[in-house]
Amino acid sequence: MFNNNYTNRLFGRTRGRSKKKINLKNYYATVDKYKFKNFNEKSEYILDVGTGYGETSIFLAKQFPDKIVISCEKYIDGNIILLKNIQKNNINNILLHNGNVYNIIEITNKKYFNLVWIFFPDPWPKNRHAKRRLITCDFLIKIHKTLKENGEIYIATDSTIYVRFILNSICRSKEYFLWVNQSKINLSIKDYFDIETKYYKKAINSQRKPSLFILRKL
Ligand SMILES: C[S@@+](CC[C@H](N)C(=O)[O-])C[C@H]1O[C@@H](n2cnc3c(N)ncnc32)[C@H](O)[C@@H]1O
Repeated sequence: MFNNNYTNRLFGRTRGRSKKKINLKNYYATVDKYKFKNFNEKSEYILDVGTGYGETSIFLAKQFPDKIVISCEKYIDGNIILLKNIQKNNINNILLHNGNVYNIIEITNKKYFNLVWIFFPDPWPKNRHAKRRLITCDFLIKIHKTLKENGEIYIATDSTIYVRFILNSICRSKEYFLWVNQSKINLSIKDYFDIETKYYKKAINSQRKPSLFILRKL
C-alpha cells in the first residue's frame, strides 16, 4: 500500500557499527506486531521522524497517551531498543514504520497529524551531500498537507550548517507556517522539555548547543 515512487532516497546506516549479531527473523516478527499499516479515521496521530534509539517516541507516547505515535526509522539496532522499551513500559500507542518517512506522508492527502517531531536529522555537513538533507522547503510543504489545523512541527539540530539550511527552508515556506519561537533569543530544547536523546547527549558532550525550531501550520 505504500507508494514506492518517491524520489527521496533514505541514506545512512541500517545496522550499527558493532555488527552485533541480530536474529532478523525475530526482529521482523516483532516489528510486524507494532507495524504501522494504515491510518484510522478515528485516531489522532503524532509523526516522529528518524527516531534513532526511540527516546522521543517513548517520551511522546507518555506525554500524549490519547494519540498514536508513528515512529519512523530504518536503523535496526535503534528499533530493537525502541521495541524493548515499548514492552518494558507497557506502551500501547506507538506504531513503527521501519523505513522512510516519505512512505508515510505520501500515502495520504488527509490531515492526520497534530504534531511532527524531527530530532537531530542527519546534517550531511559536506556540500556534496547537501541534497540528502531531509528538511527542505518541499519537505515542509509535504508535511504541511498532512497536518491538522494548528498542527506543529518541532525540529532540533546542533549543526550550524543545518541551522542555516533550515532557516532557509523556513523562509521559503513562510506562507505555510508561523515560526512560533522566532522571537526567542534562546532556541534551546531544555526550555521546552526534559528529554535527552543519543544525539542530544552527543551535542552537549561536544559543547554544541542544540537549537529547536517550532513551526505552526497557517
Ligand atoms: C542523527 S540520527 C538522530 C536520532 C535521534 N532522533 C536522536 O535524537 O538521537 C538521525 C536518524 O534519522 C533517520 N532518518 C534519516 N532520514 C530518514 C527518513 N527519510 N525517514 C526516516 N528516518 C530517517 C536515520 O536513520 C537516523 O537514525
